[in-house]
Amino acid sequence: MCGIVAYIGSQKAYPIILKGLKRLEYRGYDSAGIALYDDAVQCFKRKGRVAELAAWDEKIIEKATVGIGHTRWATHGEPSDANAHPHTSNNGQLTLVHNGIIENYASLKQELVQKGYVFKSETDTEVLVNFIEDIQKNNDYTLEEAMRVALKRVVGAYVIIVMEKGFPERLIAARKGSPLVIGVGDGEHFLASDASPIIEYTKKVIYVNDYELAILFKDEIILKNLGNEAITPYVQQLDMELAQIEKGGFDHFMLKEIFDQPASLTDCLRGRLDSENQILTLAGIDQHISIFTEAKRIIIVACGTSWHAGLIAEYMIEALGRIPVEVEYASEFRYRNPVIHPGDVIIAISQSGETADTLVALERAKEQGAFIFGVVNAVGSSIARLSHAGAYTHAGPEIGVASTKAFTAQLMVLAMMAIKIGKEKKTLSASEYQRYLVELALIPAKVKTVIASHESIKKVAIHYASARDFLFLGRGYNFPVALEGALKLKEISYIHAEGYPAAEMKHGPIALVDEHLPVLFVATKDAYYEKIVSNIQEIKARKGKVIAIVSADDTLIRSMADHVMEVPEVDELLAPLVSVIPTQLLSYYIGVALGLDVDKPRNLAKSVTVE
Ligand code: AGP
Repeated sequence: MCGIVAYIGSQKAYPIILKGLKRLEYRGYDSAGIALYDDAVQCFKRKGRVAELAAWDEKIIEKATVGIGHTRWATHGEPSDANAHPHTSNNGQLTLVHNGIIENYASLKQELVQKGYVFKSETDTEVLVNFIEDIQKNNDYTLEEAMRVALKRVVGAYVIIVMEKGFPERLIAARKGSPLVIGVGDGEHFLASDASPIIEYTKKVIYVNDYELAILFKDEIILKNLGNEAITPYVQQLDMELAQIEKGGFDHFMLKEIFDQPASLTDCLRGRLDSENQILTLAGIDQHISIFTEAKRIIIVACGTSWHAGLIAEYMIEALGRIPVEVEYASEFRYRNPVIHPGDVIIAISQSGETADTLVALERAKEQGAFIFGVVNAVGSSIARLSHAGAYTHAGPEIGVASTKAFTAQLMVLAMMAIKIGKEKKTLSASEYQRYLVELALIPAKVKTVIASHESIKKVAIHYASARDFLFLGRGYNFPVALEGALKLKEISYIHAEGYPAAEMKHGPIALVDEHLPVLFVATKDAYYEKIVSNIQEIKARKGKVIAIVSADDTLIRSMADHVMEVPEVDELLAPLVSVIPTQLLSYYIGVALGLDVDKPRNLAKSVTVE
């Protein structure tokens, strides 16, 4: 949460930082601010979106070639001008932007207040900048020394970038728990929460690690740890194109990303699946195959949409690999002292690779000897680096706050893992293995077919846009799809929606059903088909409105439902890859019909880097 950008070089800093913040706005959009170092440090910050900063004084913008910027997802203190970053220390020496949470800020603040410090905001960040100032002032330290001392006393997660009065040619950044990338240019350097603000200028990047300090000049980068030992920077080449982070003619990133799925799924399969020759290569699994085949248990740890992918993986891996799987919310797992045996395999699923709860849950499991396998989209992210092995989902950058193409790419990787493990364990027959490989290869085209029906899904969306509540029901592999459909609708349209296993509906939610309640059934042809037909009857008998996602050749449910959305026939294990698409389009079109900002829904942020 929160996005930060900084620039030091010879170009005008303001447009680079402003554009970078717009690219990072998905991380939070409660307020935004920029500080530029011209003849003095000038700061401009406001409640609201980054676009509000475009009104800044031309003269300042013209000159400065050094600056820091921030787009905020509020944690401590409501969205307001005063709580917006950057924050300046009491003596005006230090100006700082921060992403993360300082957990012991209250006690630090108390200390500082007793010393006479005055606070203009409610933020933990203003405490931090003054805490650094206090240490610097009292010990006659350089900024770097003061930061090292201060950060050793700070509890929590942070990326900070600090500007110091009198040092216009230098920025100092530090990281623990929140992401930070340095863009290495020619006579210029960039800092950002992810590579999207940097990609336009350079493809050479350095990922800063926890407990590291980066001291940036326009011609030099010095990396040190908190113990003041120099670290040799590891410069990597970014595998990302600018077009991937632009809307490319679509009204919203969310729609672009839904439409991207035939391509993103093809990318996910590329170099891994050769269905003609019956070859499935998944390097991360191949290299550690005995760990999987001998595993007594697999624990999947994730949050939100990624957790839903985990639920589907549980069904897949248990069915094909016959290994018991547990799926855990990372936020619960990290705190509840779980039993982990050496030899347990933990699969972490994360689009961003930066979700704080998932990251800490993995750290705990790793300490206890578990093998960590990351299914991650963002290359080079913290979770990817923490994992012993992994498989990237290759969905490309996902900018819309609501996850769409990242989810289907996660499912694709997890399906490949289940098939691979089943084959190696011999719990999956050779003929079934071959059949699955053929099915996998057909998925991108089937997803394309569903997307081609977007106009008819739009009509259904407009019909139900004024609903107050929604129920999403599914069974088997489609039960987590119902959960995901409900989550997506809540996020994008602010309509209350609940997902349930269709049979469980009788144990409570059925009380909600009347002629005003739309009930969406994910009811593609599978082993549960007849059961779900009965569940639909139960809703119809109570006058509920039935929307059904059905297989193309379905006639029975079609005759019962008020509205249907059709998907091609797919093996039930892979069905979620196509049955989720109508739920994504439905949420999108309802959000648009209600005039909402579907790319940046209220209160949310794409990357949840606070617990
Ligand atoms: C999805 O639409 C969400 N916005 C959210 O639930 C997300 O999936 C969750 O925060 C986990 O993120 P991650 O995959 O980046 O770890």
